[in-house]
Amino acid sequence: MRIVLVGPPGAGKGTQAAFLAQNLSIPHISTGDLFRANISQGTELGKQAKAYMDAGNLVPDEVTVGMAKDRMEQADAENGFLLDGFPRNVAQAEALDAILEQKSLKLDAVLDLEVPEDEVVKRIAGRRICRSNGAHVYHVVYNQPETEGVCDVCGGELYQREDDSEETVRKRLEVYHTETEPIIDYYKAQGLVATISALAKVDEVTERAMRALQGRG
Ligand code: AP5
Ligand code: ZN
Repeated sequence: MRIVLVGPPGAGKGTQAAFLAQNLSIPHISTGDLFRANISQGTELGKQAKAYMDAGNLVPDEVTVGMAKDRMEQADAENGFLLDGFPRNVAQAEALDAILEQKSLKLDAVLDLEVPEDEVVKRIAGRRICRSNGAHVYHVVYNQPETEGVCDVCGGELYQREDDSEETVRKRLEVYHTETEPIIDYYKAQGLVATISALAKVDEVTERAMRALQGRG
């Protein structure tokens, strides 16, 4: 299955993507995680992305689309994928369609996670992620690790993302409304959107997502 996950910052895209990718046996491709890995490795791409991310803005499409395309090729898009955080504006959605069209492939579903803004703010304020693997995500209240500050999966150190400050989160939400939300209408026109409420416990949201995806791929 080829799936796009969309939703505001802190909606739980990364958290759900980990379970869905496992249930569906497809790779989880997160542009945010790829950028953070590049930053921690000190690559040229990471240097280009950092200032945009710290300010809560989108990294330019030229950089993002190339990176996402390389990652999809590496994963062998024909076998399916779960995209998390990409596409993030209509230009990126068009670029993705063109990439898939070249291979005579299509998306199967766009899963839209709905969460009220006050909940998103709480989720982001308490989020901690793993330094060794950004896909290992925790929360100081909702999803605590067994040992404080240490990743259950790999023992990595947990830290708070630099772009999770209150001011940057406000900016990211604004960017979501102006730039990313329009892709929902873009995909509705293709009949691909399944909207679910993500205001529930993590495993309940996964079940809702799996039900919404049934019969779509
Ligand atoms: P990115 O890393 O994609 O961030 P985001 O979209 O803002 O999403 P988040 O990672 O903040 O949240 P999430 O929805 O994954 O929630 P999570 O599962 O962690 O992007 C960061 C930046 O990179 C962008 O601002 C931009 O600069 C750049 N970028 C990335 N992609 C780009 C692109 N395509 N184009 C241009 N620029 C791009 O959950 C949040 C917290 O809530 C966690 O603590 C979790 O434990 C907790 N939680 C999750 N689910 C639940 C639940 N059901 N109940 C209670 N708590 C929950
Ligand atoms: Zn870890």
